[in-house]
Amino acid sequence: MTSSSEHDKPVSLGASAGDVVIDFVNGKLDYRRKFGGGKNQALSKAVGLHKAKQPLRVFDATAGLGRDSFVLACLGATVLGCERHPQVFSALHDGLQRALADAELQELLDGRLSFIKCDAIELLSDSTRGLVAEFRPNVIYLDPMHPPQKKTALAKKDMRIFREIVGSDADQCALLEAALDFGVSRVVVKRPSHAGPLRDAVSHSIKGKTTRFDVYMAQS
Ligand SMILES: C[S@@+](CC[C@H](N)C(=O)[O-])C[C@H]1O[C@@H](n2cnc3c(N)ncnc32)[C@H](O)[C@@H]1O
Repeated sequence: MTSSSEHDKPVSLGASAGDVVIDFVNGKLDYRRKFGGGKNQALSKAVGLHKAKQPLRVFDATAGLGRDSFVLACLGATVLGCERHPQVFSALHDGLQRALADAELQELLDGRLSFIKCDAIELLSDSTRGLVAEFRPNVIYLDPMHPPQKKTALAKKDMRIFREIVGSDADQCALLEAALDFGVSRVVVKRPSHAGPLRDAVSHSIKGKTTRFDVYMAQS
């Protein structure tokens, strides 16, 4: 795949250069890596990283801009992120190549973060064969597009552009069913605080500042 990391400008989502770029090295993600609360942050607790006795393998079925995948990999999980939108995947691939060109991030990530372009519902349809089965995840993580905010709380420009590109993920309930059927011990769904769960039988929820993580534990 050709990536703009071979050139000097990052791949941009949106009409003008820099509208939405994936930058794991600088800016918000660099700040979050250093000061985001480590394993005590809500995302880490939701996937069970804070109490894990063994390294966790997380299949991030909705990689998007790669932020959650990146945070989890920096905290020690091995993450396989899946993104179906070609333009978004291309920006993710570029962002990862740029991160791996940074010596500190390369050492920190240590081969624990990768992305694939595919529809996760297809990948999850067979728990015995295929890329996800080979990856052997302990946790499946889902963060499908959130319902649009009310007009009074207009989303930031980058999120508006992102929504225009990927749409609303109308099949998110089917994705959750596929994840639950796959047979891992934990499925986590990120939701906006104001919205209800995607489906019933939530085992417990972890509250973040503006989001909530609904955790579905397999019955043992
Ligand atoms: C809200 S974004 C995820 C943001 C991400 N958690 C982050 O930290 O940047 C949702 C993304 O999931 C992708 N997506 C939704 N359903 C998918 C599916 N079934 N397979 C693969 N990608 C999917 C969308 O294309 C979109 O890019």
